[in-house]
Amino acid sequence: MTERRKILVTSALPYANGSIHLGHLVEYIQTDIWVRFQKLRGHDCTYVCADDAHGTAIMLKAEQLGISPEEQIARVKAEHERDFGDFLINFDNYHSTHGEENRVLSELIYSRLQANGHIASRMITQAFDPEKQLFLADRYIKGTCPKCKTEDQYGDNCEACGATYSPTELINPVSAISGATPIEKESEHFFFKLPEFTAFLQDWTRAGHLQDEVANKLAEWLDSGLQEWDISRDAPYFGFKIPGTEDKYFYVWLDAPIGYMASFKNLLDRRAAADASVDADALFAEYWGKDSSAELYHFIGKDIVNFHALFWPAMLSSADFRTPTKVCVHGFLTVNGKKMSKSRGTFINARTYLEHLNPEYLRYYFAAKLSGGVDDLDLNLEDFIQRVNSDLVGKVVNIASRTAKFIQKSGGTLSNSVADQALWQKFRDADSQIAANYEARDFGKAMREIMALADLANEYIAAQAPWSLAKQEGTEQQVLDVCSLGINMFRALVTYLKPVLPALAADAEQFLGESLDWRQPVTFRGGDAINKFKPLLTRIEADKVDAMLEASKEALAAPAPQASAATASDELAKDPIAAEISFDDFAKVDLRVALIAKAEHVEGADKLLRLTLDLGGETRNVFSGIKSAYQPQDLEGKLTVMVANLAPRKMKFGLSEGMVLAAGPGKKEIYLLEPHSGAKPGQRIM
Ligand code: 2FM
Ligand code: ZN
Repeated sequence: MTERRKILVTSALPYANGSIHLGHLVEYIQTDIWVRFQKLRGHDCTYVCADDAHGTAIMLKAEQLGISPEEQIARVKAEHERDFGDFLINFDNYHSTHGEENRVLSELIYSRLQANGHIASRMITQAFDPEKQLFLADRYIKGTCPKCKTEDQYGDNCEACGATYSPTELINPVSAISGATPIEKESEHFFFKLPEFTAFLQDWTRAGHLQDEVANKLAEWLDSGLQEWDISRDAPYFGFKIPGTEDKYFYVWLDAPIGYMASFKNLLDRRAAADASVDADALFAEYWGKDSSAELYHFIGKDIVNFHALFWPAMLSSADFRTPTKVCVHGFLTVNGKKMSKSRGTFINARTYLEHLNPEYLRYYFAAKLSGGVDDLDLNLEDFIQRVNSDLVGKVVNIASRTAKFIQKSGGTLSNSVADQALWQKFRDADSQIAANYEARDFGKAMREIMALADLANEYIAAQAPWSLAKQEGTEQQVLDVCSLGINMFRALVTYLKPVLPALAADAEQFLGESLDWRQPVTFRGGDAINKFKPLLTRIEADKVDAMLEASKEALAAPAPQASAATASDELAKDPIAAEISFDDFAKVDLRVALIAKAEHVEGADKLLRLTLDLGGETRNVFSGIKSAYQPQDLEGKLTVMVANLAPRKMKFGLSEGMVLAAGPGKKEIYLLEPHSGAKPGQRIM
């Protein structure tokens, strides 16, 4: 093996105010495949990430839900980690930018920028919401488009006519947060003096750290002149206070990339706490110090290139840290050739996908479509079904399922003789080219090479037809030799696919009774026994994909989350009973006793009440369409029954985290279910 590389890898940190969707997953799957590949090749590769926890959006979201920002980010982090885990994204550490490590590092870097004269300060004038006492970023101002006069357009561009403008040009501007008319207000801001890094960045962006198309785009920006970067925000803001100020905070994008370092630091500290021989500070310096020989890879989307390929290397260089080895940029996801759309159901959340389909289908499809370039990537759902079924089920798994049974029949032990040397040699020779394509993130090419080998294997097995051979006399050895080569070709293919399909590989390893390793080229295995073959992957059924699209539409269009448990019989004809479900489906519903801790009207909603439900230690925010039947004050302190494991749903007024059960024809006659007497909040109802 070549030298063992030390590689630190990151994916962009997702914001702590929303769910992971398939658009995000392009990047995490791409990064995870690359990291698993490096580890499988024996390199010392570490993959860290975190939630991006700061900023106005997160602060407002928490306020909307009636919880603290800390609680908001804790909830979202738990959701993100579960989604990533279920998509087999194998982070070595998943942290938050709202951690102590990040505060310390952000303050350190800022102090170095300041000491080097790279921070400027001056007064600027901005829109201000006099009611909320908050400065308003452009996207928080709405009004009538000055060009086409369409109402309700954002402060920087019109969705109707595409015009771009400044918020001061809007007709009748209002704060999107409170509805108040914004005023103009001055305040002092701090700026990072990016223009001083022009020469440095002209070199850096051409020194092999970026894809050519990215470097070319940056050259345009560099040529037209860099601007100073505003890195402070006024209170109220959820973030880190800037040292030496009373009411100024670091802009979320200043401390976000520092979050990469912070997550790594957190990992090292945890390792050091568990093992006294680990020197966390020395390791940190080894990876982040100016003369580091470790490699640093950032995987990001094309929308955040300026932060990673201009601001970040400039900050790092001023603060005396190393700069990235590579910033790997990918394009956006389209679904069926179009932007993801809520109304078409193609805006698919990670959780919705997982409720219907196996994560490895998507991992394989994305791998097959990723090229290492910045082009957008299309998830064409018909092609998705066809390709996964034909490649994985029809080609790869088929090799084992067609040959394993003959090995079992002859006692389970693989033959030592290689039935077709030339064919086996092709499987070995492909190794370095497939590895080079993984390294270059051209996973699509790697998948095509692997499937070409799978075709060869299937052609060989079809031509040898062990099932016919086995019917003839005296062919036992020949059948065993043919099928042993089949199993060995399968071993090679699964090894090459292991970074993409870790769960399938684990099941295959179980069957083969070995751990597949790619530090050396795959060797032929013979003379020992394999286990009984069990089906490794089932075909994608089109109706599962349809159900996922339907569920994605519903998750967004959902009206009041209210169950009508009892419906008058004459209503049955209009509202027929839905498709039968199994007992197992029903048993998945987790019904709990909930205490209505708080009930409130929701501004602008004519059917909904907002309920704060206490589950005996955990609180949930639930919107329920029971306003016509209940006064909020009559509900507070009462016990009811809720579906506690319903996936949270985004509604117009906020996130609804469950559903209370009610019955009745409607209007004044809606009755919230009451549990048995003596019930305790959080208790499960059977
Ligand atoms: O664009 C985003 O979703 C950001 N939260 C990415 C941050 S990446 C890094 F710089 F932290
Ligand atoms: Zn317009």
